[in-house]
Amino acid sequence: MSRQMKLIAFMQAQNCTNYTGSWRHAASATNWHSKDYYEHIGRVLEHGKFHLAFFDDRLAIPDRFGDDFVQTVANGIRAAKLDPMMTALTMGLATEKLGIGATYSTTYYEPFHVARIFASLDLMLGGRAAWNVVTSLNDSEAANFGRSEHLAHDLRYDRADEFMEVVLGHWDSWEDGAIVHDREGGVFADPARVGRLDHRGPFFQSRGPFTVPRSPQGHPVVIQAGQSGRGKAFATRWGELLFVIYPSLAVGQNSYAELKMQLAAAGREATPITPAVYAIVGETRAMAEDKRAYLESLAKPADALALLSEVLNYDFSRKAPGDAFTDEELDAIGGLRAIRDRAIRMSGKTNPTVEEFVRASGRGTLSEFPIFMGTPAEVADQMQEWFEKACDGFVISATHSPGAYEDFVRLVVPELQRRGLFHHDYEGSTLRGNLGLTRPEPRAWRSERPQPALAAQ
Ligand SMILES: Cc1cc2nc3c(=O)[nH]c(=O)nc-3n(C[C@H](O)[C@H](O)[C@H](O)COP(=O)(O)O)c2cc1C
Repeated sequence: MSRQMKLIAFMQAQNCTNYTGSWRHAASATNWHSKDYYEHIGRVLEHGKFHLAFFDDRLAIPDRFGDDFVQTVANGIRAAKLDPMMTALTMGLATEKLGIGATYSTTYYEPFHVARIFASLDLMLGGRAAWNVVTSLNDSEAANFGRSEHLAHDLRYDRADEFMEVVLGHWDSWEDGAIVHDREGGVFADPARVGRLDHRGPFFQSRGPFTVPRSPQGHPVVIQAGQSGRGKAFATRWGELLFVIYPSLAVGQNSYAELKMQLAAAGREATPITPAVYAIVGETRAMAEDKRAYLESLAKPADALALLSEVLNYDFSRKAPGDAFTDEELDAIGGLRAIRDRAIRMSGKTNPTVEEFVRASGRGTLSEFPIFMGTPAEVADQMQEWFEKACDGFVISATHSPGAYEDFVRLVVPELQRRGLFHHDYEGSTLRGNLGLTRPEPRAWRSERPQPALAAQ
């Protein structure tokens, strides 16, 4: 069978999608805090044979801009955010084959807790769970967890490496078949097939035994989206599915080839690489263009500044729009540093202005991710070109919800299937099976060490 793309839905358990203006859309659902909303989207995605729906997360609302939350709350700029595990389970219980992922932070949680909650989800869903491993981004998140500031970038990843060792160690503590359930003999499980982890490291100590047996897919699929040198070394060491942002096909082609080489060096070339994109599809080109114009009219200037300050962990209210950043200020920018680098690249200046940052990031607007727009055939053409040159599938972001997913499933999925680019049905019963990933051997990850050349970048 020829190579086929993986499709993932970029879900938010919040009042808007990735695109803040989405909640102002006349067709947006207002019941984003209800069970019905997540059940409905789950069923739509499963009808469209999506491999996975994953929920992103942030542990604070965007209040870095001017150190204030008033604009954020008033304008609904990702102002409400539910715990993604709750919505993930809700969606999972309403579906049978769709993979279900949630984001949890290695900086603010304990590994035992994260290992347990995801292993439980995985068992409950018969082997369909995934964990998007993030190290979090900003000081507002730190403040909610009793810290004065966010941990330094590379230190976050050092902590995250050890976090993964503890989580995977716990996930390996129950061997397959450990549960015998022998009622008559009075034996529930074989103690020889359950172990303690006894982890003692610089960041964590955790004893075990773990409380959750192994799931049908071994353990939840690990998702990662590191983009810096250190982030990519982490991603290629642990990630089984990678999320990326490629601002254009040309950038994507280079970055994809490079990342594939890094994955090959780590013995993980099967890992799918999937960029985040928007799709705006209409029955005719004119209908798609009208949809896009309406969507674009929904953005407000406050959206961009609040979200830029949030993602770069920098208060942009300190500077006027035309002011250039000094070298020291550029160094102080944290969070998603790829945006800083893009602002430098796109402006052609070593010291870009606030306005140039806003433009380069696309935060608060639809240009945050590439947009595939047009008729079903035109959208499929663009996806096909990217898929053939720069990725293994896509993280489809909704311009508004649930309408964007309904349109995509109704119009684009059949076209992709007709071209043989996307599966007609789920082949496996676990997420791992559907993504074409092998079931992990217990403790196999211990022999996978980061390549020195990668870790040093
Ligand atoms: C598609 C996608 C989804 C992401 N989701 C989250 C998220 O839910 N929460 C979060 O804190 N970071 C999220 N990130 C950010 C990454 O985890 C990572 O921090 C970022 O890409 C910067 O890379 P770096 O840490 O190597 O600098 C996401 C990134 C991408 C590309």
